Amino acid sequence: MGYVRPRIGPLAVTVAVALAIVPAGAPAAEAAPGSTPKAPAVKATRPEAKPPLLVQAEAPPFSEGIYPCSACHAGMPKNGTRRELVFHDEQQSIFDHGADQRWCLDCHDLQNRDVLRLANGAPVPFTESYRLCGQCHGDKYRDWRVGVHGKRVGHWNGEKTYFLCVNCHNPHSPRFKGVQEIVSGGKKTVAPTLTYLKPEPRPKRPEEQRR
Ligand code: HEC
Ligand code: HEC
Ligand code: HEC
Ligand code: HEC
Repeated sequence: MGYVRPRIGPLAVTVAVALAIVPAGAPAAEAAPGSTPKAPAVKATRPEAKPPLLVQAEAPPFSEGIYPCSACHAGMPKNGTRRELVFHDEQQSIFDHGADQRWCLDCHDLQNRDVLRLANGAPVPFTESYRLCGQCHGDKYRDWRVGVHGKRVGHWNGEKTYFLCVNCHNPHSPRFKGVQEIVSGGKKTVAPTLTYLKPEPRPKRPEEQRR
């Protein structure tokens, strides 16, 4: 699922081809006396170390008791009409994700609440929520897949860990505000904060320093 960089790039391929052709074309008689003729090299290894393995981070855990969603929703009448909800205040109160045109059921599936849904109705498990985000944010999704977007948060293991969109953006209030380190399933990961992390205090002027 995580993005794995190709291990052999165009450079390595070119080198491999060159090495394979030259020894084959060189006459065996030119080999120094007593030396064993070398078999043509067919493989060239890249001089640099392998790129680090990219590991997908854990999505932030669900709130206590909310998942599986079907525990409640399976037995409830299905109501797809946009309305004020008497439940899920936490999501409803912060909801500002294109809220003029979007609502809960643009992302959550009405029939099976335990999955997300794409615009074409295809179900997407919560562990692959980036596919949902990607259908409306194609540019960010492509950047993220190649490791360009999402690297601005320089955290421990930042080089190797492949954060999901929802590790940094709350899907219900997605503007980036900051992340906090959390532990989920025994592993360190990050979760989006809902309020802006305090900016660094500006340096104090001398007259402010006494207190
Ligand atoms: C843009 C897509 C999107 C929209 C719109 C959306 N959600 Fe979500 N919602 C998600 C995703 C993705 C997750 C899972 C996040 C994660 O993995 O941490 C989620 C998680 C949840 C959860 C679990 C939260 C928890 O505390 O564990 C609830 C409940 C929920 N959504 C309800 C709603 C309600 C109610 C609305 C409408 C007011 C809504 N969602 C609108 C994408 C969306
Ligand atoms: C404890 C019970 C309970 C659980 C668990 C629960 N819900 Fe709900 N949910 C409700 C109730 C009750 C409503 C209806 C509120 C209303 O009609 O005003 C609702 C409504 C919704 C709606 C609005 C659309 C609709 O079908 O009415 C969404 C979206 C939603 N829930 C998402 C989720 C998601 C996603 C999860 C799991 C992450 C979840 N819910 C888990 C009780 C629950
Ligand atoms: C159905 C289309 C749709 C989906 C799916 C969707 N978004 Fe969005 N998103 C939008 C729209 C529209 C806006 C612009 C909203 C606005 O400016 O009010 C937006 C805005 C944003 C922003 C910028 C917010 C800001 O205020 O600067 C972020 C970040 C974002 N989305 C992340 C996500 C993530 C993460 C997911 C997946 C969980 C996701 N989006 C899924 C439509 C979508
Ligand atoms: C490691 C954290 C991280 C991850 C993972 C991440 N983002 Fe972001 N995202 C950011 C930061 C930081 C910003 C910039 C916020 C700013 O400049 O105010 C941002 C900005 C955005 C914006 C607003 C861009 C704009 O031009 O205003 C969108 C949309 C967005 N991200 C979508 C996504 C989607 C979709 C994914 C997953 C495919 C994703 N992000 C994954 C950290 C992350």
